[in-house]
Amino acid sequence: MSALKKIVAGNWKMFGMQASVEQVLQLKNLLRERGANCDVVLCPPFTLLSLFSQSAGGAIAIGSQDCHNAVEGAFTGNISAQMIVDAGASVVIVGHSERRVMQGESDALVQQKASAAILANLKPIICVGETLEQRQSGEHLDVVGAQLLGSLPQSFGAQGLVVAYEPVWAIGTGKIPTLEDIGQMHDHIRGILSQKYGAQSANSIHILYGGSVKPNNAKDIFAVRNVDGALVGGASLKASDFSEIIYAC
Ligand code: PGA
Repeated sequence: MSALKKIVAGNWKMFGMQASVEQVLQLKNLLRERGANCDVVLCPPFTLLSLFSQSAGGAIAIGSQDCHNAVEGAFTGNISAQMIVDAGASVVIVGHSERRVMQGESDALVQQKASAAILANLKPIICVGETLEQRQSGEHLDVVGAQLLGSLPQSFGAQGLVVAYEPVWAIGTGKIPTLEDIGQMHDHIRGILSQKYGAQSANSIHILYGGSVKPNNAKDIFAVRNVDGALVGGASLKASDFSEIIYAC
């Protein structure tokens, strides 16, 4: 088990309306009653950042699901890291596989976004993960290693970084790798981080697992070495399910 206090982050993707603030209030009440052994983050769509951060009142950190790589400029439809901070958020997911695949985001762009996040004082959750074909052909360790090195921000240290290992084939499918496979990949990621930053700094970086984390598998996943928390999609939308994952920490 890792010594770090775990982080459980919910990625709401393109779900949620103003009325969903009810889930934030419910979660806040549950956490107030029972406390939590981990840090909790909710990442709603941009339109709900402000409302959620006001409603969470500090009990839950709020994050966005993406940011632009530039500080500001003529980029119609985009949102900068500073705007996200201005809306009350402290975290940003970068390089989620849905953006890498559907928006064609490269490692180089993810690296720039992670740097923009750090410059704005946002904690980046940098996502990496292999496809099913890459795992089946045995390339998964190399693929994820290259993605990670290509996506980590340059000119910054390890401080504040979070990495999320999310096998693409496990996202939204109800399938997860075996616990041994999760452990192997998390060890591999920790090793790469140690080479880049030195062992001590690398040990301060949270490595989250993401992909079909549910109330019924969270405890086992959290017990795997080098798993420092989870990035949760579907099961984070309802406070009742999400809180069960939080209490599995
Ligand atoms: P899932 O999504 O938990 O619904 O599989 C995880 C993610 O995409 O971050």
